[in-house]
Order: sequence, then structure tokens, then C-alpha cells
Amino acid sequence: MEMGFYFYCACCFFIIFSKETAAIDTISPSDSLTDGMTLVSNDGSFALGFFSPGTSNNRYLGIWYNNTPMQNVVWVANRANPINDSTGLLKIESSGKLVLQVQNTTAVWSTNMTASVENPVLQLLDSGNLVVRDGNDSNPENYYWQSFDYPSDTMLPGMKIGIDLRTGLHRRLAAWKNWDDPSPGDLTYGVELEGNPEMVLRKGVEKYYRSGLWNGDGFSGTPNLRSNPIFDYDFIWNENEVYYIYFLKNKSVMSRFVLNQTESVRQRYTWNPETQTWKLFSIMPSDYCDRSGLCGPNGNCDNNKLPACQCLTRFRPKLLERWNSSDWSDGCIHSKPLNCQSGDGFIKIAKVKTPDTPNSWVNKTMNLKECRDKCLRNCSCMAFTNLDVTRGGSGCAMWFGDLIDIKQFQSDGQDLYIRVSASEAELKKNAKMKLGIILGTVIAALLVFVLGICYIRRSRRKLKDKVEDKNVNDNENEDENEDMELAVFAFGTIAQATDTFSFNNKLGEGGFGPVYKGTLANGQEIAVKRLSRSSGQGLNEFKNEVKLIVKLQHRNLVRLLGCCIHGDERMLVYEYMPNRSLDSFIFDQMRSKVLTWSKRFQIICGIARGLLYLHQDSRLRIIHRDLKASNVLLDTQMNPKISDFGMARTFGGEQTEANTNRVVGTYGYMAPEYATDGMFSVKSDVFSFGIVLLEIISGKKNRGFYHANQSGNLVEHAWRLWEEGKPLDVADDFLVETGDLSELLRCIHISLLCVQQHPEERPSMSSVVVMLVSHNELPSPKQPGFLFCNKPFEADCSSGNDRSSSRNEISISLLEAR
Ligand SMILES: *[C@@H]1O[C@H](CO)[C@@H](O)[C@H](O)[C@H]1NC(C)=O
Ligand SMILES: *[C@@H]1O[C@H](CO)[C@@H](O)[C@H](O)[C@H]1NC(C)=O
Ligand SMILES: *[C@@H]1O[C@H](CO)[C@@H](O)[C@H](O)[C@H]1NC(C)=O
Ligand SMILES: *[C@@H]1O[C@H](CO)[C@@H](O)[C@H](O)[C@H]1NC(C)=O
Ligand SMILES: *[C@@H]1O[C@H](CO)[C@@H](O)[C@H](O)[C@H]1NC(C)=O
Ligand SMILES: *[C@@H]1O[C@H](CO)[C@@H](O)[C@H](O)[C@H]1NC(C)=O
Ligand SMILES: *[C@@H]1O[C@H](CO)[C@@H](O)[C@H](O)[C@H]1NC(C)=O
Ligand SMILES: *[C@@H]1O[C@H](CO)[C@@H](O)[C@H](O)[C@H]1NC(C)=O
Ligand SMILES: *[C@@H]1O[C@H](CO)[C@@H](O)[C@H](O)[C@H]1NC(C)=O
Repeated sequence: MEMGFYFYCACCFFIIFSKETAAIDTISPSDSLTDGMTLVSNDGSFALGFFSPGTSNNRYLGIWYNNTPMQNVVWVANRANPINDSTGLLKIESSGKLVLQVQNTTAVWSTNMTASVENPVLQLLDSGNLVVRDGNDSNPENYYWQSFDYPSDTMLPGMKIGIDLRTGLHRRLAAWKNWDDPSPGDLTYGVELEGNPEMVLRKGVEKYYRSGLWNGDGFSGTPNLRSNPIFDYDFIWNENEVYYIYFLKNKSVMSRFVLNQTESVRQRYTWNPETQTWKLFSIMPSDYCDRSGLCGPNGNCDNNKLPACQCLTRFRPKLLERWNSSDWSDGCIHSKPLNCQSGDGFIKIAKVKTPDTPNSWVNKTMNLKECRDKCLRNCSCMAFTNLDVTRGGSGCAMWFGDLIDIKQFQSDGQDLYIRVSASEAELKKNAKMKLGIILGTVIAALLVFVLGICYIRRSRRKLKDKVEDKNVNDNENEDENEDMELAVFAFGTIAQATDTFSFNNKLGEGGFGPVYKGTLANGQEIAVKRLSRSSGQGLNEFKNEVKLIVKLQHRNLVRLLGCCIHGDERMLVYEYMPNRSLDSFIFDQMRSKVLTWSKRFQIICGIARGLLYLHQDSRLRIIHRDLKASNVLLDTQMNPKISDFGMARTFGGEQTEANTNRVVGTYGYMAPEYATDGMFSVKSDVFSFGIVLLEIISGKKNRGFYHANQSGNLVEHAWRLWEEGKPLDVADDFLVETGDLSELLRCIHISLLCVQQHPEERPSMSSVVVMLVSHNELPSPKQPGFLFCNKPFEADCSSGNDRSSSRNEISISLLEAR
């Protein structure tokens, strides 16, 4: 009674003098907290008191959010020992021990204090942490006891979930049994220390969800969380402690993370102040593939495939019949048996969640090469990867025996190197071979071209087949035969695949109409371009043109699978590219980090080769006319594929330039002579290529480029820096810091050559391809088109009237380049 009176007065006192601090947040040994009273943290965000959950009449001592209308309990003291009346009383003994008493005598809950404290106080902090500390000492290091060390089902910001290796304290979440009963259910979440430590959600003894390894930047199982607007998180692993922790980015945007027994999930909620409700922000496991180990040993779970369970590359189902009947439990085995003695190799599986850890081993200082060597020497080592991508990929993790619970991501995730037989590993080319292939392709293309010139006068018909064969052979992965019939899809098939062109399936809007994603009945993913009706082309004309485009097969061109004709509507059906387009990476602050310089260089070379193929296919000679970053799509391996080629116009073989009264293209990428006079040639594509190149290097858009105290576009900026002798300044800092500077410099140089004002001065694509990989001296670039123009279409800014990009000149510059 006395205590109640004391509290009452304290409250009145505070209400009178301060509206905000209406309660006290500490009690000392002379005080106690009875049922009906609350302790409120200094800023009012949390309260400690007695409550009854759901429909239960039992009383529990707990902490809840104080400023939300519903009582969201975040911590419970006597989880498993409910009080059946309102005689509960919390007191702090003079030794610092907390005791929760019932009926004045029975202790239903108490803390285990070993040391005795001189001058203890109990305080509820603004973080929601209830602590016992020395009255004179508020250093968190010296707390005698804290509720954050004994979490219930909720993880609050600043709380550590993990293990203190010095004391053995294991902080782990356990869900409430149900809405009415806070006693621990069998759903738990905590750190597990076998091999490489990671976070594990368990239901009973079953592993339900794993985070995958921590790579310094995030967990390999949740790559999409790395840059979220709500919270920052970290995983600490040192000789003293292993734990997961998170902090709010904006303290006023509340977020909590809670286990839900009934749904068997880990949920994160964020507070929406407008609606005064908690909004579900994320949920784990969130999809089929998050559930641990569904695809059996050596399976790879990919939600974008049907069925989601696939064998790892170079593996096959162990029991085909059961695998075919969707029983994945037997998993997969190597397609070609390993032979450890005579030497195995590794192939890289990109963007995955790393396998389960029981048979894993780690060393935090080894580098990737040492890791590979060590793994190769141990015949039972089946995979390895590096640990910390933020510190240059130091650290080594290895897995022995079967690889369990790998999940495939599309755009981000860890690279895993898996052991395969030497012959299988060789299929994967190494860097040197790649260069060889590039050079080989160039030489072959030259040969084709020279052949083309020789044959063209004799027989165009004969030539067609030869060149086609040649090109098909040159480009690995190509398996199309020339006489392939045009696939005409039924309208019903396409409508079904795209969910009748539903808005959800729309990928974007191209220059010639909207594009939809679709999935055919056999599981194949397609992209459907629905051409605008205004094209006014006849049926046969359309079919013939599609037939021509279908025959253009190159690994750097998006493959056209066929078409669909329905009334006066025309559709083109393409292979689907899961990574979308280049612009979605290079212009995005976070996603751009995925594209390291070496990847970008590969992409640049790929675009160049694709364009070369279009320009030099002697039969068609396609000028793209709308090359831009958003027309370069990326496959799962980030190989570039040019799309929308052949859309604007297809030509006969001898035509190299033409005049058009309808300019198609995109401002910012168009060559001056094309934009102003409608003159287009292979060299106007070269100009666009130069712009794309600059955009890849700088991570900035040519159009809409802004630089403090300078006017003009990206090209102008690059040119200015070139003239000032600091060309590298145009490149993204991230590339300068991590990339190959001589390659980078060379690409800047080439880009400036491509955007020169006069078309005849720009190199042809065949020269560009050679320049990219050779180390020869390059000519100095002359002033680019559109220089020093605020409005790019003023007449005096461009001069494209005299043009002479003829076939002969192309061959001459080719020979020179060699
Ligand atoms: C409440 O619990 C006490 C023991 O903790 C028990 O003796 C008592 O009978 C219970 N009262 C009711 C109403 O269940
Ligand atoms: C609790 O015990 C104290 C003495 O230890 C006594 O003064 C008080 O009246 C008791 N209260 C109840 C509710 O039994
Ligand atoms: C006290 O220690 C026991 C056994 O070590 C443990 O089960 C219990 O959870 C501890 N209680 C608190 C409140 O820390
Ligand atoms: C703080 O410590 C001093 C001496 O160390 C002691 O006299 C004083 O009572 C303490 N104050 C509190 C609030 O604990
Ligand atoms: C568990 O999740 C479901 C669905 O999100 C929700 O309705 C329910 O209230 C949650 N239960 C608890 C105890 O949070
Ligand atoms: C934090 O969030 C509040 C409420 O949404 C907003 O008003 C405030 O500007 C944010 N602060 C920062 C630094 O972003
Ligand atoms: C399993 O499916 C594959 C591919 O669909 C098929 O080639 C194979 O014959 C099937 N095998 C069995 C045993 O069903
Ligand atoms: C880890 O690797 C380093 C060499 O990089 C080695 O010196 C160290 O002994 C290794 N640690 C263990 C535990 O194997
Ligand atoms: C391979 O590694 C496993 C697991 O660390 C170990 O038990 C085994 O002895 C190693 N074998 C060899 C040959 O080093």
C-alpha cells in the first residue's frame, strides 16, 4: 500500500511538472513493483508491469511497447510459471537479485546473481532492456544482469542473439506456445557453431531455416536484405562472442523481429505511425526454397525453375525415377565420377546460399587460392568458398561430403566452388582461354568478312549458307540449324503464358510496344513483345522479316523464339532474361556493386561482339539504330545480350547507309548525323556503343548527366577530363579502386574514339573488338559530336553531312588494326 502511494505521488509530481516524463524508470531495494503498477522507460517507449496474454487470466511480468495502442509484449520474466492471482510483486534484493513473489512468499521467478552488488538499482532502459546495475555506474559493460541476455520471442534493436564464448551464455529466441501462453514453444532461433557459424531457425530438432554463411556484408541466404531502408545488421564472430545484432536506421521507425509458433516463421514487423499498426516487413522462411534441405543431397533449389529442385551443375539425379516423380530426397550424384588421385577440378556456382554447415570447416585468414589448394588435396572436400567479401574475399570455408540446402538466387548471393571431375571442370574456360576465344572470334569474323567480299560477286545464295555455318561454328553454345522453321505460337498459348497479358507480368515498355513475361506450359520462360498496331506491315512481310531475325543467332543477341499473329496483332516471342537489362545495374547505387570491372569488361566485349555480328552478317547487315543500356539484357551469368535488333529496319547486304524520314532511337544515344539529318549507318551504332561504354564506365547516364558547375552531357564531361589529362576521373570511383586501370583507361579511350563527331573517323565494330583486347597504341580521339551544346539538336553543333562509311573503308581499318 505504501509503495502504491509513493508511486501515485511520484506520478502526480511528474504530471504537474512535465507532461512527457509521467513515470519513473528505476527501483531500488527499498521499493517494489506490484500488480497494477508499471515502470516506464525514460523516453516512454517501453513499460514493465504485469499483464494477462490473450484470453488467459494468468498474470505475467513483462515488458511491452508503451506507445502503441495494442500491448505488444517483447519480454516475459515468468514465461513458464504463471501467477494465478494479482498478488505478484517484483523486488530487487539488496544483493541485486531480482525476485518475483506471489502471496508475499513464493518466488515464481528470480535471477541467478552470483556476485553481490554494493548499491543496486533496477532500471528499464529506452531500448527495452531491463538491467540491474550499480547506482553510480551506468556503463553497459558492468551491468550485473540484463533482460537482453534472456530473450523471449522478440529481438529488439541492440540485442545480441548468439553465444558468449567466455561465459557460455546462449542467447536464443523461443516462440510463445500460442497467443494465450508465453511459455516457450519448440520454435527457436539462435547461432549454431558447427563449422562456419550461422543463424538457424529450428522447429523442435528439425532445422527449419538457415541464414547461410555471413560474408562480411550479409547472410548468403538473404542477399536482398543487404540494403533495406529500416535497419542495419551485423554478425560478429571473434574469440569472445558470436552473435547477430541489428540497429534501426531511423530511431523513430520502430521495428521488431518475433518468432511465431503457429505459423512456424520468423517475422519482422515495422510500425506504421499513420495507421497505428504493425506492418509485416519480412518473413522467414519466405519461399519454398528457404525450407532447409528440400532438394536432397547436392540439389539446388531455384524458385524460378519448375520444378524448383534441380541438380547442381555437373550432377544428375541419383534415382531418376523417384526424382521424376518429385521425390527429391535421394538427391543427386556427380554426372562423371570423381577421381581424386588423378586430379579433380572445380566449377563455380554463382549466387547461391551456402550449404548446411555440419560437415564444414573454416579458416578466417586463408585466401581463396589457398582454400582451393587445401580443398583439392582432401578427397572428401566437395566445395569451398571465401568468407569475407568486404575484405577482398579473405577467409575460407569448406564442405565435406554431400552438399545440403543450397538455394539459387538470381541477382545476388555467394559464389560456391564445387568439386567435379577434371574433365568436367575443363568445360569451364579459364581467363586465358577466354581471351583466346575473343581473338579467335575476331580472326574468324575477319575471315568470314574477307570471304564475304570475295564471294559476294559470284553468288549471294551460296554465300548465305557458308557464312551462316561459319558463324554458327564460331560461336560456342550455338546449336541452331539454319533451316529451322519459324515457330508460330497460338494466341491462346501466349495469353495463357502471360496470364492474359496481366499487369503483373509486364516487364516494361520498349520502343515498339510493351513486353510481358510468360511461362509456357513446359516451364520455359519467355518474354513477349506485343508490337504496336500502327506498324502497318503486311502479314507475309512480317513473317519474312521474323524469319530473317530468327536466323540471327549469336551468344550476345537475345534469341527470338518465334512469333504470334492474332488478327492484326503481331507479337515476338523471345527467350527470357532473368537479370533484366544493363541499366538496372549500372545506374543503381547498390546493384552496380555487383558489376565489378572484370564483369563490366566482359559485358563490354560481349556487346561489341554482338554488334559486330549484326553489322557484318553479310546477308542481312543489321544496323541496330537503338542501342542503349536498357536494350542490353543480362542472362544469369551476366552475359550481355543485345535485344531489339532488326526492329527498325533490315537491309540487303550491300547497303551500308540510308536516309530515313522517321528517326527511331533514343536521345542521348543517337549520333549527331542521325539525330539531325536522319543519316544512319553502322557508324551511328558505333556512336551509340561509345555512349553505352561511357555509361558502363561512369555509372552515369549520358542524358540527364549532371556535374556541379559544368554544363553539358557525360560525353562532354569525359572529353573535358581527357583534355585535362585526367581521363580516369570519369570512371566510377568503385571501379578505379578495384578494377584494372589500364583496361579501364583503354575503354575510356575507345569510347571517345566511338563518339567522334565525324562518322568516318569512328572505328568500325571490328576494329573496336580488336582494340578491346590488344595492347597496341590507339589513335588520339578527336572532338566528340554534340560537344559544348546545351541543346543537342542545334544545327551548328553537329556536322554529319559528309559521310563515307563504305564497305571498303571498313575493311581497310580492319587491316590496319591488325
Ligand atoms: C494459485 O496457485 C497457488 C500455488 O501457486 C495455489 O496454491 C492456488 O490454489 C492457486 N489458486 C487458484 C485459484 O488456482
Ligand atoms: C506481506 O508480508 C509483510 C511482512 O513480511 C506484511 O507486513 C504484509 O502485510 C504482507 N502482505 C500480504 C499481502 O500478505
Ligand atoms: C538461472 O539459472 C538456471 C540454471 O542455470 C537457468 O535455467 C535459469 O534460466 C536461470 N534464470 C534466469 C532468470 O537467468
Ligand atoms: C555513489 O558512490 C558514492 C561513493 O562511492 C556513495 O557515497 C554514493 O552514495 C553513491 N551514490 C549512489 C546513488 O549510489
Ligand atoms: C502469427 O502470424 C499470424 C499471421 O501473420 C498472425 O495472425 C498471428 O497473430 C501471429 N501470432 C503471433 C503469436 O504473433
Ligand atoms: C525518421 O522518421 C520520421 C518519421 O517517419 C521522419 O519524420 C524523419 O524525417 C526521419 N528521420 C530521418 C533522419 O530520416
Ligand atoms: C525422367 O525424366 C527425364 C526428363 O523428363 C526423361 O528423359 C527420363 O526418361 C525420365 N526417366 C524416368 C526413369 O522416368
Ligand atoms: C589458417 O590459415 C593460416 C594460413 O593462411 C594458418 O597460418 C593457420 O594456422 C590456419 N588456421 C587453422 C586453424 O587452420
Ligand atoms: C579431410 O578433411 C576431413 C575433415 O576436416 C578430415 O577429417 C580428414 O582427415 C581430411 N583428410 C585428409 C586426407 O586430409
